[in-house]
Amino acid sequence: MSSVADRYGVFGHPVGHSLSPFIHAMFARETAQDLSYRAFEVPPEEFATRVHTFFGEGGCGLNVTLPHKVAAVEVAVELTDRAAHAAAVNTLSMHDGGILGDNTDGIGLVHDLCDNQGLVVTNRRLLVLGAGGATRGVLAPLLQLEPELIVIANRTADRAAALAAAFSDLGATHGAGFAEVGDEPFDLIINATSASLSGEIPPIPTSAVGAQTVCYDLAYGRSAVAFVEWSRAAGCARALQGLGMLVEQAAESFRLWRGIRPDTSLVLAALKDRTGST
Ligand code: ATR
Repeated sequence: MSSVADRYGVFGHPVGHSLSPFIHAMFARETAQDLSYRAFEVPPEEFATRVHTFFGEGGCGLNVTLPHKVAAVEVAVELTDRAAHAAAVNTLSMHDGGILGDNTDGIGLVHDLCDNQGLVVTNRRLLVLGAGGATRGVLAPLLQLEPELIVIANRTADRAAALAAAFSDLGATHGAGFAEVGDEPFDLIINATSASLSGEIPPIPTSAVGAQTVCYDLAYGRSAVAFVEWSRAAGCARALQGLGMLVEQAAESFRLWRGIRPDTSLVLAALKDRTGST
């Protein structure tokens, strides 16, 4: 029997803040899996070489975080459908001797929305703010739930229109500028812009928020504060942040690697304590 635990990790830049080692260590304990999981600081120019070295030396799986999610598409010899749709990869593993790229971000969001938060997306009107990589990563799994409509709103309206067109074969999508999202409140508003990182709020009309509207920021902790506060002030039903999505995408990666899906509730409770999130 080997005395060396199976090796996993996350490549990022910077990666010091990553909660993934904590999350995966808890998953491993909970499921009695013998593995190690580390955060690796990897600058962009070293990314491809370091991935090949990691797997060449017997590493079993990697998560990939900012800024490498697009570069990870290139190191994979094969992509899952959801990674191809997202045009981004957050999970790498060895499959039939080659590197397989997957993306568990979108399914992580769906698990958090539907299982943890008890929300219904089917037949609902959704507004997604932003038209960058984060939005691209969540659109296909959200459209699979058959919402009535997803409006994508972006500072640069053309990018929103292009993304809406690119996903229109999967469901009803519409791209617009922030000011053109209409007066009717949405059931769910998802902030997928990077504006939250600098504490800014995308300038959407408050009429988009009604008493039934749930607002969700894909970011968590301090980065989500501005949008959560804005949503509450606008009168939403609930304002949520993306800590649950983080844990659920990790659980999907873990399942992919180990064939067992950990229970996420203990980890989520521990992280809420650790990060002071609600
Ligand atoms: P990510 O992978 O995080 O989505 P990205 O691809 O750079 O990163 O996209 C960032 C998104 O946040 C874009 O939709 C961007 O709008 P533009 O396409 O107009 O650039 C949006 N964004 C960034 N800062 C913003 C701000 N201060 N206000 C509104 N939107 C902002």
